[in-house]
Amino acid sequence: MTLDDFPRYPLTFGPSPLQHLKRLSQHLGGAQVWAKREDVNSGLAFGGNKVRKLEYIVPDVLASGADTLVSIGGYQSNHTRQVAAVAAHLGLKARLVQEKWVPWDDPTNDKVGNILLSRMMGADSRLDDAGFDIGIRDSWKSALREVEEAGGTPYPIPAGASEHRLGGLGFANWAFEVAQQEKEQGVFFDTIVVCTVTGSTHAGMIAGFAALEELTGVRRRVLGIDASATLDKTRDQVGRIARHTAELIELGRDLRDDEIQVLDGWAGDLYGIPVESTENAMRLGAELEAMITDPVYEGKSLAGLIDLVGSGDVPRDSTVLYAHLGGQPALNAYHSLWS
Ligand SMILES: Cc1ncc(COP(=O)(O)O)c(C=O)c1O
Repeated sequence: MTLDDFPRYPLTFGPSPLQHLKRLSQHLGGAQVWAKREDVNSGLAFGGNKVRKLEYIVPDVLASGADTLVSIGGYQSNHTRQVAAVAAHLGLKARLVQEKWVPWDDPTNDKVGNILLSRMMGADSRLDDAGFDIGIRDSWKSALREVEEAGGTPYPIPAGASEHRLGGLGFANWAFEVAQQEKEQGVFFDTIVVCTVTGSTHAGMIAGFAALEELTGVRRRVLGIDASATLDKTRDQVGRIARHTAELIELGRDLRDDEIQVLDGWAGDLYGIPVESTENAMRLGAELEAMITDPVYEGKSLAGLIDLVGSGDVPRDSTVLYAHLGGQPALNAYHSLWS
């Protein structure tokens, strides 16, 4: 099967917009920086990267006859908000396990932003005080059991939709979408910068760009910026999902090690806690481009991009694409950063 053979249920507006960040590029004085805006990719509750992943998962949901999507994330999970949105859109129920992934001392952390939106959309969102882990959790397994015991038919969607067999396809397709937009707009991105935590966004891109390389012979760097602060787990998960997705779309070769690059240095010590470089990057994106990023994910990957471009690691003659994956609703729980 090639990527085109997998059914895709449309949840996005179409190709997400490309934007040349001219003022940021000028400020950094190096490579030209563009963004591809997954934060405005859909009308479903502000969209984001999970909506793209779910486009390839929904056909399986519908075929399964399930009536309840069951998923998991932190209190301010963007992923569970997007699962709640897709459930509402499809007329299904959503049961969400929201764990205390971030020791962030804000009294509204479990009330505003993403969790508020999920509740508005009718999701059954329940808090659990377990800490951060990108793996498969017992709390999620018991939520699945509870739905069954109550007579429902659950459909399991793991954290970030990453450990799902089809979880990498959305961003494998993103690579082909980028190539099409490059043709239309007369631009070429030799470097992609993307935030990575549960892994299937970055992993899907790796598989997709590898498939493009087979077709065109053109190599690019796809740089994942770790925001998990559990680097080994994320690296392992990205490699595993990238290889699995490459197999699914019949790449026909193993991935090279240089195709799987998860870079360390911008996550700080803990998932969800911004550090100085995060806040500086968020400020720069906002003040120069009115491009709003969050302190959990996109502020960290933007910090990585700023340093890589500023240091010349991404050379001056490069054109780099920053994948903006969404995440702004969580800002509500981080108001103290700017108060
Ligand atoms: C805004 C945002 N950026 C980046 C990521 C990381 O994506 P992934 O979990 O696929 O690595 C997520 C989700 O975890 C997210 O919500």
